[in-house]
Amino acid sequence: MEIIHLSAECYPVAKVGGLGDVVGALPKYQNKLGHVAKVVMPAYNSKFLYENEFETVYDGWVKVASTNYQARILREKTNKLGFDIFLVHVAGLFDRGGVYGYGDDTERFIAFQVATLDWIAQWEHRPDVIHVHDHHAGLIPFMVSNCDQYRHLNQVPTVLTIHNAQYQGQFGWDKLLYLPPFDLINTSKLDWNSAINPLASAIKCAWRVTTVSPSYLEEISHVANGLESLLSQERGKSIGVLNGIDTEVWNPQKDKMIVKGYTARTIESGKKANKEELCRVFNLDSTKPLYTFIGRLVGEKGADLLPDIFYNALAQSNGDINILVLGSGDPQVEDRLSEITHRYPGNYNAYIGYNEALSHQIYAGADFLLMPSRVEPCGLNQMYALRYGTIPIVRRIGGLKDTVIDIGDGGFGICHDQTSVWDVGHAIGRAYELYLDQNKVKEIRKYMMSIDHSWDNSAQQYIDIYQM
Ligand code: ADP
Ligand code: GLC
Repeated sequence: MEIIHLSAECYPVAKVGGLGDVVGALPKYQNKLGHVAKVVMPAYNSKFLYENEFETVYDGWVKVASTNYQARILREKTNKLGFDIFLVHVAGLFDRGGVYGYGDDTERFIAFQVATLDWIAQWEHRPDVIHVHDHHAGLIPFMVSNCDQYRHLNQVPTVLTIHNAQYQGQFGWDKLLYLPPFDLINTSKLDWNSAINPLASAIKCAWRVTTVSPSYLEEISHVANGLESLLSQERGKSIGVLNGIDTEVWNPQKDKMIVKGYTARTIESGKKANKEELCRVFNLDSTKPLYTFIGRLVGEKGADLLPDIFYNALAQSNGDINILVLGSGDPQVEDRLSEITHRYPGNYNAYIGYNEALSHQIYAGADFLLMPSRVEPCGLNQMYALRYGTIPIVRRIGGLKDTVIDIGDGGFGICHDQTSVWDVGHAIGRAYELYLDQNKVKEIRKYMMSIDHSWDNSAQQYIDIYQM
Protein backbone atom coordinates (compact mmCIF):
# COMPACT_ATOMS: atom_id res chain seq x y z
CA MET A 1 0.00 0.00 0.00
CA GLU A 2 1.07 3.58 -0.48
CA ILE A 3 0.42 5.58 2.69
CA ILE A 4 0.88 9.35 2.95
CA HIS A 5 1.28 10.66 6.48
CA LEU A 6 0.68 14.37 7.05
CA SER A 7 1.95 15.90 10.27
CA ALA A 8 3.31 19.10 11.78
CA GLU A 9 6.14 17.15 13.47
CA CYS A 10 8.43 14.30 12.51
CA TYR A 11 11.60 13.27 14.37
CA PRO A 12 14.42 14.08 13.66
CA VAL A 13 13.29 16.92 11.39
CA ALA A 14 11.14 18.75 13.94
CA LYS A 15 9.90 17.50 17.29
CA VAL A 16 8.03 19.25 20.08
CA GLY A 17 6.71 16.12 21.78
CA GLY A 18 5.53 12.59 21.18
CA LEU A 19 3.78 13.40 17.89
CA GLY A 20 7.22 13.89 16.35
CA ASP A 21 8.45 10.57 17.70
CA VAL A 22 5.42 8.68 16.38
CA VAL A 23 5.51 10.17 12.88
CA GLY A 24 9.27 9.61 12.75
CA ALA A 25 8.86 5.91 13.52
CA LEU A 26 5.53 4.49 12.35
CA PRO A 27 6.23 5.01 8.59
CA LYS A 28 9.62 3.32 8.95
CA TYR A 29 8.00 0.25 10.47
CA GLN A 30 5.24 0.27 7.84
CA ASN A 31 7.93 0.24 5.16
CA LYS A 32 9.62 -2.69 6.89
CA LEU A 33 6.32 -4.53 6.50
CA GLY A 34 6.63 -4.09 2.73
CA HIS A 35 4.47 -0.99 2.26
CA VAL A 36 5.42 2.44 0.95
CA ALA A 37 4.83 4.98 3.70
CA LYS A 38 5.84 8.61 3.17
CA VAL A 39 5.72 11.69 5.38
CA VAL A 40 4.76 15.21 4.31
CA MET A 41 5.41 18.03 6.77
CA PRO A 42 6.16 21.78 6.73
CA ALA A 43 9.69 22.93 5.90
CA TYR A 44 10.58 24.83 9.08
CA ASN A 45 14.01 26.41 9.26
CA SER A 46 15.83 23.45 10.75
CA LYS A 47 19.21 21.78 10.86
CA PHE A 48 17.74 18.94 8.85
CA LEU A 49 16.80 21.32 6.03
CA TYR A 50 20.28 22.80 5.86
CA GLU A 51 22.30 19.63 6.33
CA ASN A 52 20.65 17.42 3.72
CA GLU A 53 20.18 17.35 -0.01
CA PHE A 54 16.76 17.74 -1.53
CA GLU A 55 15.12 17.65 -4.93
CA THR A 56 12.09 19.77 -5.79
CA VAL A 57 9.05 17.65 -6.59
CA TYR A 58 6.49 20.44 -6.76
CA ASP A 59 6.56 24.13 -7.50
CA GLY A 60 3.39 26.18 -7.34
CA TRP A 61 1.36 28.84 -5.63
CA VAL A 62 -1.03 28.54 -2.76
CA LYS A 63 -3.68 31.14 -2.15
CA VAL A 64 -4.78 31.76 1.44
CA ALA A 65 -7.23 34.65 1.77
CA SER A 66 -6.04 37.30 -0.65
CA THR A 67 -2.37 36.35 -0.50
CA ASN A 68 -0.62 34.12 -2.97
CA TYR A 69 2.29 32.27 -1.42
CA GLN A 70 4.99 30.50 -3.33
CA ALA A 71 4.98 26.80 -2.41
CA ARG A 72 7.68 24.26 -3.07
CA ILE A 73 7.82 20.64 -1.98
CA LEU A 74 11.24 19.11 -1.39
CA ARG A 75 12.12 15.44 -1.12
CA GLU A 76 15.16 14.39 0.91
CA LYS A 77 17.23 12.46 -1.59
CA THR A 78 18.67 9.54 0.34
CA ASN A 79 15.73 7.98 2.21
CA LYS A 80 18.01 8.08 5.27
CA LEU A 81 15.11 8.10 7.72
CA GLY A 82 13.76 4.79 6.46
CA PHE A 83 10.95 6.54 4.60
CA ASP A 84 10.60 9.32 2.04
CA ILE A 85 10.23 12.68 3.72
CA PHE A 86 8.73 15.65 1.85
CA LEU A 87 9.06 19.17 3.22
CA VAL A 88 6.48 21.75 2.21
CA HIS A 89 8.11 25.14 1.90
CA VAL A 90 5.70 28.06 1.84
CA ALA A 91 7.57 31.34 1.51
CA GLY A 92 6.79 33.71 4.35
CA LEU A 93 4.96 31.13 6.46
CA PHE A 94 7.35 28.31 7.31
CA ASP A 95 10.76 29.89 6.89
CA ARG A 96 11.01 30.53 10.65
CA GLY A 97 12.54 28.48 13.43
CA GLY A 98 9.57 27.43 15.53
CA VAL A 99 6.90 24.84 14.90
CA TYR A 100 3.80 26.30 16.59
CA GLY A 101 2.62 29.29 18.52
CA TYR A 102 2.50 32.01 15.84
CA GLY A 103 -0.45 34.39 15.38
CA ASP A 104 -0.86 33.13 11.81
CA ASP A 105 -0.81 29.40 12.57
CA THR A 106 -4.22 29.05 10.90
CA GLU A 107 -2.85 30.48 7.64
CA ARG A 108 0.34 28.43 7.95
CA PHE A 109 -1.33 25.06 8.40
CA ILE A 110 -4.02 25.74 5.79
CA ALA A 111 -1.27 26.62 3.30
CA PHE A 112 0.58 23.42 4.24
CA GLN A 113 -2.50 21.27 3.66
CA VAL A 114 -3.61 22.97 0.45
CA ALA A 115 -0.11 22.84 -1.09
CA THR A 116 0.14 19.14 -0.21
CA LEU A 117 -3.22 18.30 -1.78
CA ASP A 118 -2.46 20.43 -4.87
CA TRP A 119 0.66 18.33 -5.32
CA ILE A 120 -1.00 14.94 -4.72
CA ALA A 121 -3.84 15.92 -7.06
CA GLN A 122 -1.28 16.20 -9.88
CA TRP A 123 -0.04 12.63 -9.49
CA GLU A 124 -0.92 10.16 -12.20
CA HIS A 125 -1.98 7.64 -9.55
CA ARG A 126 -3.79 7.97 -6.22
CA PRO A 127 -2.28 6.96 -2.89
CA ASP A 128 -4.06 4.12 -1.07
CA VAL A 129 -4.58 6.10 2.09
CA ILE A 130 -3.95 9.59 3.46
CA HIS A 131 -3.23 9.39 7.18
CA VAL A 132 -3.46 12.72 8.99
CA HIS A 133 -2.16 13.44 12.48
CA ASP A 134 -3.85 15.90 14.83
CA HIS A 135 -5.55 19.18 13.91
CA HIS A 136 -2.68 20.66 11.88
CA ALA A 137 -3.64 18.26 9.09
CA GLY A 138 -7.29 18.01 10.16
CA LEU A 139 -8.84 19.85 7.22
CA ILE A 140 -7.56 17.25 4.75
CA PRO A 141 -10.45 14.76 5.15
CA PHE A 142 -12.94 17.58 4.51
CA MET A 143 -11.03 19.01 1.56
CA VAL A 144 -10.50 15.61 -0.07
CA SER A 145 -14.19 14.81 0.01
CA ASN A 146 -15.63 18.29 -0.64
CA CYS A 147 -13.35 20.68 -2.51
CA ASP A 148 -13.98 20.86 -6.25
CA GLN A 149 -10.32 20.87 -7.20
CA TYR A 150 -9.65 17.56 -5.39
CA ARG A 151 -12.68 15.75 -6.80
CA HIS A 152 -10.66 12.89 -8.25
CA LEU A 153 -9.08 12.21 -4.83
CA ASN A 154 -12.40 11.79 -3.10
CA GLN A 155 -12.26 8.02 -3.21
CA VAL A 156 -8.97 8.00 -1.28
CA PRO A 157 -9.63 6.88 2.32
CA THR A 158 -8.46 9.29 5.00
CA VAL A 159 -7.50 8.20 8.51
CA LEU A 160 -7.22 10.64 11.42
CA THR A 161 -5.05 9.82 14.40
CA ILE A 162 -5.88 11.88 17.48
CA HIS A 163 -2.72 12.31 19.52
CA ASN A 164 -4.28 14.87 21.77
CA ALA A 165 -7.87 16.12 21.62
CA GLN A 166 -7.09 19.10 23.88
CA TYR A 167 -5.67 20.98 20.90
CA GLN A 168 -8.17 21.49 18.07
CA GLY A 169 -6.96 24.46 15.99
CA GLN A 170 -10.31 26.35 15.97
CA PHE A 171 -10.71 29.58 14.00
CA GLY A 172 -13.51 31.94 13.04
CA TRP A 173 -15.90 31.80 10.10
CA ASP A 174 -14.31 34.97 8.73
CA LYS A 175 -11.56 32.64 7.50
CA LEU A 176 -13.89 30.24 5.67
CA LEU A 177 -12.71 31.46 2.29
CA TYR A 178 -9.15 30.53 3.16
CA LEU A 179 -10.16 27.05 2.00
CA PRO A 180 -10.34 26.14 -1.69
CA PRO A 181 -13.86 26.36 -3.21
CA PHE A 182 -16.51 23.84 -2.14
CA ASP A 183 -20.28 23.62 -2.07
CA LEU A 184 -21.31 25.84 0.85
CA ILE A 185 -24.07 23.43 1.73
CA ASN A 186 -21.30 21.37 3.37
CA THR A 187 -20.07 23.99 5.85
CA SER A 188 -21.58 22.07 8.76
CA LYS A 189 -18.84 19.47 8.31
CA LEU A 190 -16.35 22.13 9.40
CA ASP A 191 -18.37 23.40 12.32
CA TRP A 192 -18.11 22.72 16.02
CA ASN A 193 -19.57 25.11 18.59
CA SER A 194 -19.93 27.88 16.01
CA ALA A 195 -16.30 27.87 14.91
CA ILE A 196 -14.34 26.11 12.20
CA ASN A 197 -12.74 23.28 14.12
CA PRO A 198 -10.16 21.27 12.15
CA LEU A 199 -10.02 18.41 14.65
CA ALA A 200 -13.81 18.11 14.86
CA SER A 201 -14.06 18.30 11.08
CA ALA A 202 -11.53 15.49 10.71
CA ILE A 203 -13.47 13.37 13.22
CA LYS A 204 -16.60 13.93 11.13
CA CYS A 205 -15.07 13.47 7.68
CA ALA A 206 -12.28 10.91 8.08
CA TRP A 207 -13.06 7.38 7.03
CA ARG A 208 -11.51 6.01 10.25
CA VAL A 209 -10.44 7.71 13.48
CA THR A 210 -7.79 6.30 15.76
CA THR A 211 -6.57 7.33 19.19
CA VAL A 212 -3.07 6.58 20.43
CA SER A 213 -4.15 4.09 23.11
CA PRO A 214 -7.28 2.01 23.78
CA SER A 215 -7.87 3.58 27.21
CA TYR A 216 -7.74 7.10 25.76
CA LEU A 217 -10.47 6.12 23.32
CA GLU A 218 -12.67 5.18 26.28
CA GLU A 219 -11.77 8.35 28.18
CA ILE A 220 -12.37 10.90 25.41
CA SER A 221 -16.07 10.17 25.33
CA HIS A 222 -16.00 11.87 28.76
CA VAL A 223 -13.04 14.28 28.61
CA ALA A 224 -12.17 15.75 25.22
CA ASN A 225 -12.21 19.51 25.61
CA GLY A 226 -15.75 19.89 24.24
CA LEU A 227 -15.65 17.14 21.62
CA GLU A 228 -17.12 14.42 23.87
CA SER A 229 -20.50 14.10 22.18
CA LEU A 230 -18.99 14.12 18.69
CA LEU A 231 -16.54 11.40 19.66
CA SER A 232 -19.33 9.30 21.14
CA GLN A 233 -21.33 9.78 17.95
CA GLU A 234 -18.39 8.67 15.77
CA ARG A 235 -17.38 5.83 18.10
CA GLY A 236 -18.33 3.22 15.48
CA LYS A 237 -15.48 4.19 13.15
CA SER A 238 -12.96 4.80 15.97
CA ILE A 239 -10.23 2.44 17.14
CA GLY A 240 -7.57 2.74 19.86
CA VAL A 241 -4.10 1.69 18.70
CA LEU A 242 -1.32 1.80 21.26
CA ASN A 243 1.74 3.73 20.10
CA GLY A 244 5.01 1.90 19.81
CA ILE A 245 8.54 3.21 20.20
CA ASP A 246 11.42 3.30 17.74
CA THR A 247 13.71 0.68 19.25
CA GLU A 248 16.56 1.76 16.97
CA VAL A 249 16.57 5.36 18.23
CA TRP A 250 15.83 4.24 21.81
CA ASN A 251 18.33 1.45 22.23
CA PRO A 252 20.37 1.48 25.46
CA GLN A 253 22.90 -0.90 23.93
CA LYS A 254 23.80 1.37 21.01
CA ASP A 255 22.72 4.80 22.23
CA LYS A 256 25.53 7.26 21.38
CA MET A 257 24.08 9.94 23.65
CA ILE A 258 24.70 8.01 26.89
CA VAL A 259 28.08 7.41 28.55
CA LYS A 260 27.88 3.62 28.67
CA GLY A 261 25.70 1.31 26.61
CA TYR A 262 24.05 -1.68 28.27
CA THR A 263 21.71 -4.62 27.78
CA ALA A 264 19.41 -6.40 30.24
CA ARG A 265 22.40 -8.58 31.16
CA THR A 266 24.70 -5.64 31.90
CA ILE A 267 22.12 -3.18 33.21
CA GLU A 268 23.51 -2.92 36.73
CA SER A 269 26.94 -1.69 35.64
CA GLY A 270 25.44 0.31 32.77
CA LYS A 271 22.91 2.14 34.90
CA LYS A 272 25.54 2.79 37.56
CA ALA A 273 27.90 4.45 35.07
CA ASN A 274 25.15 6.57 33.53
CA LYS A 275 23.75 7.55 36.92
CA GLU A 276 27.16 8.54 38.24
CA GLU A 277 27.79 10.78 35.25
CA LEU A 278 24.33 12.37 35.47
CA CYS A 279 24.77 12.98 39.20
CA ARG A 280 28.22 14.44 38.64
CA VAL A 281 26.90 16.90 36.04
CA PHE A 282 23.88 17.91 38.14
CA ASN A 283 25.56 17.92 41.55
CA LEU A 284 23.53 15.00 42.91
CA ASP A 285 24.49 11.99 45.01
CA SER A 286 24.62 8.80 42.96
CA THR A 287 24.36 6.59 46.05
CA LYS A 288 20.76 7.74 46.56
CA PRO A 289 17.68 6.93 44.50
CA LEU A 290 17.21 9.30 41.56
CA TYR A 291 13.65 10.37 40.71
CA THR A 292 13.11 12.27 37.47
CA PHE A 293 10.52 14.05 35.39
CA ILE A 294 10.87 14.76 31.65
CA GLY A 295 8.26 16.66 29.72
CA ARG A 296 6.21 19.66 28.85
CA LEU A 297 5.51 21.73 31.97
CA VAL A 298 1.76 22.01 31.44
CA GLY A 299 -1.37 21.19 33.42
CA GLU A 300 -2.07 18.03 31.41
CA LYS A 301 1.18 16.55 32.67
CA GLY A 302 0.41 17.56 36.27
CA ALA A 303 3.46 19.84 36.13
CA ASP A 304 1.84 22.58 38.25
CA LEU A 305 1.88 20.17 41.21
CA LEU A 306 5.51 19.14 40.81
CA PRO A 307 7.02 21.94 42.94
CA ASP A 308 4.86 21.02 45.98
CA ILE A 309 5.38 17.31 45.37
CA PHE A 310 9.14 17.83 45.32
CA TYR A 311 9.26 20.17 48.34
CA ASN A 312 7.32 17.61 50.38
CA ALA A 313 9.39 14.65 49.24
CA LEU A 314 12.69 16.46 49.84
CA ALA A 315 11.61 17.66 53.27
CA GLN A 316 10.40 14.23 54.34
CA SER A 317 13.33 12.23 53.01
CA ASN A 318 16.02 13.98 55.09
CA GLY A 319 18.32 14.16 52.11
CA ASP A 320 17.93 10.50 51.18
CA ILE A 321 16.67 11.08 47.65
CA ASN A 322 17.65 12.98 44.50
CA ILE A 323 15.34 14.64 42.02
CA LEU A 324 16.16 15.86 38.51
CA VAL A 325 13.76 17.65 36.17
CA LEU A 326 14.05 18.24 32.41
CA GLY A 327 11.28 20.32 30.91
CA SER A 328 9.92 23.58 29.65
CA GLY A 329 6.51 25.20 29.46
CA ASP A 330 4.51 27.34 31.86
CA PRO A 331 6.96 30.09 32.98
CA GLN A 332 5.59 30.11 36.54
CA VAL A 333 6.17 26.37 36.89
CA GLU A 334 9.61 26.77 35.34
CA ASP A 335 10.51 29.42 37.93
CA ARG A 336 9.20 27.43 40.87
CA LEU A 337 11.04 24.32 39.71
CA SER A 338 14.27 26.28 39.30
CA GLU A 339 13.97 27.81 42.78
CA ILE A 340 14.04 24.40 44.48
CA THR A 341 17.68 24.00 43.37
CA HIS A 342 18.67 26.81 45.76
CA ARG A 343 16.78 25.23 48.66
CA TYR A 344 18.07 21.69 48.14
CA PRO A 345 21.45 21.86 46.38
CA GLY A 346 22.98 18.39 46.18
CA ASN A 347 19.58 16.69 46.21
CA TYR A 348 17.68 18.51 43.49
CA ASN A 349 18.34 20.04 40.10
CA ALA A 350 16.36 21.18 37.08
CA TYR A 351 17.26 21.78 33.45
CA ILE A 352 14.68 24.17 32.05
CA GLY A 353 14.62 23.82 28.28
CA TYR A 354 14.53 21.19 25.60
CA ASN A 355 17.49 18.81 25.33
CA GLU A 356 17.15 15.59 23.36
CA ALA A 357 20.52 14.13 24.40
CA LEU A 358 19.90 14.87 28.06
CA SER A 359 16.55 13.07 27.86
CA HIS A 360 18.39 9.91 26.76
CA GLN A 361 20.92 10.35 29.56
CA ILE A 362 18.13 10.68 32.11
CA TYR A 363 16.23 7.61 30.90
CA ALA A 364 19.54 5.74 31.19
CA GLY A 365 20.74 7.14 34.51
CA ALA A 366 17.55 7.48 36.56
CA ASP A 367 16.00 4.99 38.96
CA PHE A 368 12.44 6.31 38.66
CA LEU A 369 10.49 8.40 36.14
CA LEU A 370 7.42 10.33 37.33
CA MET A 371 4.37 10.87 35.10
CA PRO A 372 1.55 12.31 37.23
CA SER A 373 -0.48 13.24 34.11
CA ARG A 374 -4.06 14.48 34.30
CA VAL A 375 -4.47 13.51 30.64
CA GLU A 376 -2.16 11.14 28.78
CA PRO A 377 -3.41 9.98 25.38
CA CYS A 378 -0.52 7.53 25.21
CA GLY A 379 2.75 8.77 26.67
CA LEU A 380 6.06 7.61 25.26
CA ASN A 381 8.30 8.53 28.19
CA GLN A 382 7.17 5.54 30.25
CA MET A 383 7.97 3.20 27.35
CA TYR A 384 11.43 4.76 26.93
CA ALA A 385 11.90 4.36 30.68
CA LEU A 386 11.02 0.65 30.49
CA ARG A 387 13.45 0.15 27.63
CA TYR A 388 16.23 1.77 29.69
CA GLY A 389 15.37 -0.17 32.85
CA THR A 390 13.96 2.85 34.71
CA ILE A 391 10.91 2.23 36.89
CA PRO A 392 7.87 4.34 35.91
CA ILE A 393 5.71 6.02 38.57
CA VAL A 394 2.50 6.87 36.73
CA ARG A 395 -1.07 7.90 37.18
CA ARG A 396 -3.49 5.22 35.96
CA ILE A 397 -4.79 7.11 32.95
CA GLY A 398 -4.82 6.79 29.14
CA GLY A 399 -1.83 5.06 27.66
CA LEU A 400 -0.12 4.92 31.07
CA LYS A 401 -2.87 2.56 32.23
CA ASP A 402 -2.30 0.43 29.11
CA THR A 403 1.46 0.10 29.54
CA VAL A 404 2.35 0.10 33.24
CA ILE A 405 1.36 -2.58 35.78
CA ASP A 406 1.79 -1.87 39.48
CA ILE A 407 4.25 -3.96 41.51
CA GLY A 408 1.36 -4.79 43.84
CA ASP A 409 -0.35 -6.54 40.93
CA GLY A 410 2.74 -8.54 40.01
CA GLY A 411 3.99 -5.81 37.67
CA PHE A 412 6.99 -3.50 37.44
CA GLY A 413 5.80 0.06 38.04
CA ILE A 414 4.24 2.22 40.72
CA CYS A 415 0.73 3.39 39.86
CA HIS A 416 -1.54 5.90 41.56
CA ASP A 417 -5.14 6.86 40.88
CA GLN A 418 -5.20 10.65 41.10
CA THR A 419 -3.05 13.57 40.07
CA SER A 420 -2.66 15.06 43.52
CA VAL A 421 0.25 16.06 45.71
CA TRP A 422 -0.74 13.33 48.17
CA ASP A 423 -1.16 10.52 45.66
CA VAL A 424 2.17 11.25 44.02
CA GLY A 425 3.86 11.72 47.39
CA HIS A 426 2.60 8.32 48.48
CA ALA A 427 3.84 6.78 45.22
CA ILE A 428 7.29 8.33 45.77
CA GLY A 429 7.32 6.72 49.23
CA ARG A 430 6.40 3.31 47.77
CA ALA A 431 9.19 3.70 45.23
CA TYR A 432 11.63 4.47 48.04
CA GLU A 433 10.66 1.27 49.86
CA LEU A 434 11.10 -0.67 46.66
CA TYR A 435 14.55 0.89 46.18
CA LEU A 436 15.65 -0.50 49.53
CA ASP A 437 15.05 -4.00 48.17
CA GLN A 438 17.80 -3.99 45.55
CA ASN A 439 17.26 -7.63 44.58
CA LYS A 440 13.70 -6.84 43.62
CA VAL A 441 14.81 -3.71 41.74
CA LYS A 442 17.33 -5.75 39.76
CA GLU A 443 14.71 -8.31 38.86
CA ILE A 444 12.23 -5.61 37.76
CA ARG A 445 14.81 -3.79 35.67
CA LYS A 446 15.68 -6.94 33.75
CA TYR A 447 12.02 -7.70 33.22
CA MET A 448 11.16 -4.17 32.02
CA MET A 449 13.95 -4.28 29.46
CA SER A 450 12.51 -7.48 28.01
CA ILE A 451 9.09 -5.90 27.30
CA ASP A 452 8.58 -5.34 23.58
CA HIS A 453 6.97 -1.99 22.82
CA SER A 454 8.47 -1.67 19.35
CA TRP A 455 6.22 -0.50 16.51
CA ASP A 456 6.20 -3.97 14.89
CA ASN A 457 2.80 -4.83 16.30
CA SER A 458 1.01 -1.47 16.06
CA ALA A 459 2.35 -0.69 12.57
CA GLN A 460 0.57 -3.84 11.37
CA GLN A 461 -2.60 -2.82 13.23
CA TYR A 462 -2.70 0.42 11.22
CA ILE A 463 -2.29 -1.56 7.99
CA ASP A 464 -5.21 -3.76 9.04
CA ILE A 465 -7.28 -0.62 9.67
CA TYR A 466 -6.44 0.80 6.23
CA GLN A 467 -7.53 -2.50 4.69
CA MET A 468 -10.79 -2.87 6.62
P1 ADP B 1 3.77 14.68 24.79
O1 ADP B 1 3.78 14.39 23.35
O2 ADP B 1 2.40 14.87 25.33
O3 ADP B 1 4.68 15.79 25.17
P2 ADP B 1 4.96 12.01 25.09
O4 ADP B 1 5.26 11.21 26.31
O5 ADP B 1 4.19 11.34 24.03
O6 ADP B 1 4.30 13.38 25.56
O7 ADP B 1 6.31 12.41 24.37
C1 ADP B 1 7.19 13.34 24.86
C2 ADP B 1 8.47 13.26 24.05
O8 ADP B 1 9.15 14.51 24.16
C3 ADP B 1 9.45 12.21 24.54
O9 ADP B 1 10.28 11.82 23.47
C4 ADP B 1 10.25 12.99 25.58
O10 ADP B 1 11.50 12.41 25.85
C5 ADP B 1 10.37 14.32 24.86
N1 ADP B 1 10.58 15.51 25.70
C6 ADP B 1 9.63 16.18 26.39
N2 ADP B 1 10.17 17.25 26.98
C7 ADP B 1 11.48 17.26 26.66
C8 ADP B 1 12.58 18.12 26.97
N3 ADP B 1 12.43 19.19 27.73
N4 ADP B 1 13.78 17.80 26.45
C9 ADP B 1 13.94 16.71 25.68
N5 ADP B 1 12.96 15.86 25.36
C10 ADP B 1 11.74 16.13 25.84
C1 GLC C 1 0.43 13.58 22.32
C2 GLC C 1 0.01 13.03 23.68
C3 GLC C 1 0.90 11.93 24.19
C4 GLC C 1 1.20 10.93 23.08
C5 GLC C 1 1.78 11.66 21.89
C6 GLC C 1 2.13 10.72 20.75
O1 GLC C 1 1.36 14.58 22.40
O2 GLC C 1 -0.06 14.06 24.64
O3 GLC C 1 0.28 11.27 25.27
O4 GLC C 1 2.11 9.95 23.54
O5 GLC C 1 0.86 12.59 21.41
O6 GLC C 1 1.01 10.04 20.26
